[in-house]
Amino acid sequence: MTSTGLNDVVDFINLSRDRHVEELKAFLAIPSISALAEHAADLRRCADWIAGEMRRIGLHNVTLIETPGNPVVYADWLDAPDAPTILFYGHYDVQPVDPLDQWTSPPFEATVRDGEIYARGAADDKGQIFMHFKAIEAYMQKQGRLPVNIKFMLEGEEEIGSSHLDEFVRSHRRELAADVVVISDSPMLERGIPSICYGLRGMVYCQIDLRGSKTDLHSGSFGGAVANPAFVLAQVLAQMKDRSGRVKIPGFYDAVRPLTDEERAEWKKLPFNETRYRKEIGAPRLAGEKGYTVFERVWGRPTFEVNGLLAGFTGEGAKTVIPAVAMAKVSMRLVPDQQPDVVATLFENYVRKVTPRTVELKVTRMHGGKPWMAAFDNAFVRAAGRAIEQGFGKAPVFNREGGSIPVVSTFQEELGLPSVLFGIGLPDENSHAPNEKLDLENFHNGVIASAYLYREIAGVGRRSDAPGAPSP
Ligand code: BES
Ligand code: MN
Ligand code: MN
Repeated sequence: MTSTGLNDVVDFINLSRDRHVEELKAFLAIPSISALAEHAADLRRCADWIAGEMRRIGLHNVTLIETPGNPVVYADWLDAPDAPTILFYGHYDVQPVDPLDQWTSPPFEATVRDGEIYARGAADDKGQIFMHFKAIEAYMQKQGRLPVNIKFMLEGEEEIGSSHLDEFVRSHRRELAADVVVISDSPMLERGIPSICYGLRGMVYCQIDLRGSKTDLHSGSFGGAVANPAFVLAQVLAQMKDRSGRVKIPGFYDAVRPLTDEERAEWKKLPFNETRYRKEIGAPRLAGEKGYTVFERVWGRPTFEVNGLLAGFTGEGAKTVIPAVAMAKVSMRLVPDQQPDVVATLFENYVRKVTPRTVELKVTRMHGGKPWMAAFDNAFVRAAGRAIEQGFGKAPVFNREGGSIPVVSTFQEELGLPSVLFGIGLPDENSHAPNEKLDLENFHNGVIASAYLYREIAGVGRRSDAPGAPSP
C-alpha cells in the first residue's frame, strides 16, 4: 500500500471530529465501576453498548464471552488473509468516582472544557479504546476493509486486578492467536511528547485487619491496659519502609533486576522538570528511595504503598474511644523479576512477625499481577513509531511506566506475543482521581495515528499463521 493511500480515511476522520466526541459521551455515560457490586448491571450494559458499536462499525463475530466475573467483549475482522493479525486489548471497567464532591462536572456526564473531555473513564480506558473504533469505522466507510486482521478482547475487570483473565487467555489460546498485541491504556510522557511504553510494574494487593477487643472500649476505663489496634496498625505500617525509602520486608529486593547503566542513561536524556512535576502534584517535597531519580523510582524500582486506612472515630467533634478494629489496604508495585506470589508470602510473614500478640491479625490477598518489560527493537514497535509520527507529527520516545496491566505479561507467557503500548493519555489526565479527562487533540490525533498503525503493521507482514478460523 502506498503512503498516500490513507487520505480518504484521514479526511473522513477529520470531518467526523465532532460526531466522535458526541458518541464518546454515550460510552462515558455508563457507570461501569467494577469495584462496586451495585454496578454489576452497568458493566453488562456497557459490554452490550460496546457490542452494538462494534457491529455498527463493521466488526464480525461480536460476542460477549462469559467469565466468572464480568464478560469479555470479543469481535474481529479477519478478511485480510495475507496480513498480520492484531490482538487489541482494552478494559471497559472504570474506577470508583469518590470523592464525588471534588468533581467539577458529574463523572458520568462527559463535559468538554478547554479542549478536554472530563468524565470517569475518559482516558482510562474508554476514550483510548474508542479511538480505535473510530479509526476502524473510517476504514470501513471509505475503503470497505482494513489493511490488517484484528481481534478485539475488551475486559471488564482490569481495575480490580483482571483475576479471571489469565484463565480466559489460557482457555482461548486458539481464538486469540495473533502476531502482536496492541494496547492503548497508558499516558504519553508529556503533552507534545508521544511515547511508546515498554515496561509496566507488577502488583500485590493485600488487606490487613487487626482486632483488639470484641467491641469498642471507653478509652478512659480501658486506655493503658489494652492495645489500641489503630496505634498498632500505625506501628506495623511504620516498619514497612525505612527513612531512606527502602522497603524493609526481608527478601523483598532479592529478585529485583537492577537497572542497567544503559537504561538509566537513556532515561536521563528524557525531558523532565522535577520542580514542575512536584508543583503539578502539589507536594511540599518529593520523596523516594535514595540514590534513584524520579523516573527510576517510578518505572524501575518496586515500592510499598498504603492505599487506605480505617480505624476508630473520624466524625465531627471528639469521642474518647479505643476502636475494636483497624484496617489497612496496602499494595506493592513490583519490577522484573519479582513474582507476585513470592512477594505476597514475604509480606505476610513479615507482617506476622512485626504484629504484637496483643491484637488478632488477618491478612487477605486481594489481587496481583506480574511486571512486564519487553525489548522494543522489533518491527511492530517501529511500525507504531511511524504511526505516531504520522498522527502526532513527532516520533515517540521510549519509556517505562509505574502502573500495571496484569494481562500483558500473560500475553507474553501464554501466547508468546509481544505487546505495543500505544497510549495517548497524559500524566495530568487524573486517572483514578476526580476530574479525569482526555485531551481531545490527542484523541483526534490518536484516531489518525491508529489508522496509520494498522497500515504500518500490515507492512510488517505475518509472524505466524495466526488469523485462522475463529470461533470464540
Ligand atoms: N491504565 C492503567 C495502567 C497504567 C497506569 C499504565 C499508568 C501505565 C501508566 C490501568 O487501568 C490501571 O490502573 N491498572 C491498575 C492495575 C491493578 C488494579 C492491578 C493499577 O495500575 O493500579
Ligand atoms: Mn487502564
Ligand atoms: Mn486504571
